Amino acid sequence: MSTPAERPEPRAEDPAQPRPDRAEQHPGAQDDLLVDVRGLKVHFPIKRGVILDRTVGHVYAVDGMDLQIRRGETYGLVGESGCGKSTFGRALLRLEDLTEGEVYFDGVDLASLKGEKLRTQRRHMQMVFQDPLGSLDPRQTVEQLLLEGMQAHGMVKGGKAKDRLVELLKAVGLPRTALTKYPHEFSGGQRQRIGIARALSVDPQLIVADEPVSALDVSVQAQVINLLVDLQEEFGLTYLVIAHDLAVVRHISDRIGVMYLGGLVEEAEADDLYAAPLHPYTRALLSAVPVPDPEVEDSREQILLVGDLPSPANPPPGCRFHTRCPWRQETRCDDERPPLRVVQIDGVPAHHRVACHWAEEIASGEIQPHDVKVVLTDPTDKQSDSDDSLYANVTGHVADVD
Ligand SMILES: Nc1ncnc2c1ncn2[C@@H]1O[C@H](COP(=O)(O)OP(=O)(O)O)[C@@H](O)[C@H]1O
Ligand code: SF4
Ligand SMILES: [Mg+2]
Repeated sequence: MSTPAERPEPRAEDPAQPRPDRAEQHPGAQDDLLVDVRGLKVHFPIKRGVILDRTVGHVYAVDGMDLQIRRGETYGLVGESGCGKSTFGRALLRLEDLTEGEVYFDGVDLASLKGEKLRTQRRHMQMVFQDPLGSLDPRQTVEQLLLEGMQAHGMVKGGKAKDRLVELLKAVGLPRTALTKYPHEFSGGQRQRIGIARALSVDPQLIVADEPVSALDVSVQAQVINLLVDLQEEFGLTYLVIAHDLAVVRHISDRIGVMYLGGLVEEAEADDLYAAPLHPYTRALLSAVPVPDPEVEDSREQILLVGDLPSPANPPPGCRFHTRCPWRQETRCDDERPPLRVVQIDGVPAHHRVACHWAEEIASGEIQPHDVKVVLTDPTDKQSDSDDSLYANVTGHVADVD
């Protein structure tokens, strides 16, 4: 992780000139930008029928995301389960088809690559998964697991491979005796170390770590997070760390993006986001994270988020968060989807962006929170509207507890 002092300057408004020697270079590419995602949509068709296989709708898993990651940076992507984080990470590596939008990696347009060119490019982008046991073939020894990717990319030369494997194991804190063992012979934390070593084996630039510690005991989580931090320094890696738990990404991320139903609702440097969250959803998420200091814990704002995440097959119109937002204002919130934008609030830097029509008025207190009626809708019924919906007797509230 780069320290704040080492962080590169944020993107300038004027795009830099492309490097002339790179044919597929993105015209707006800048040298410090490794990942540049523009207007990304990944929609999965919902099929019905055995013979005709009709498409009856879509799951709007990722529905219009712009996201940039600088070299050497750790970008934390957070949001509730089902909001599209993994789909975004997979689309970034072109493991999902892109419905719309552009993904540039190191200036190269990934959507334009196919076959061998795409395979070659993938060497630079590796994934670490939540469940190391599920992602490691149980019939392969650690040696075979680590060699697989290196062989596929022609990186195994003569007798040097063994030395490299031992070095990789050392880097992730495992002994060389691990080479002859199978995944089931290791603990969860050790298996995740093997997963990380496998990602490192092909010498990538970017690692997408999708819930890398969610399956691990709390006592082991910090060790694996610390290992990721050490490896980043040692190998000059760039990370996209995906987590549903804000506490996991807090200490390792330079910047954090908060996702809700297929889109980013807030993006800021990690310290700014935790110190002054501006989007109602981020405020609710953060208010649910316990603070160790009992005095601070007792006096801080608590926002109860009511209702479940709406189905991404039938997302609410307007602001996607309006069905759960204690600050919702009629009718703009219901009708108009707010873009991720720079806000006009004193002390808030331009790179702290928020997708809320009323961010300024909420921050100043001009708009006060109110109770939220939970609307129960049938996610499979695309025609359902509020007139036909069932209202549950649940309300959310914001409270300053003293
Ligand atoms: N291959 C797929 N086909 C259909 N729907 C999918 C597929 N992959 C993910 N989804 C759906 O897309 C939505 C987002 O999923 P996901 O990206 O896994 O969310 P997260 O990682 O934030 O929990 C979910 O509703 C999920 O069921
Ligand atoms: S745009 Fe409206 S509904 Fe959406 S977060 Fe802001 S206040 Fe809430
Ligand atoms: Mg996921």
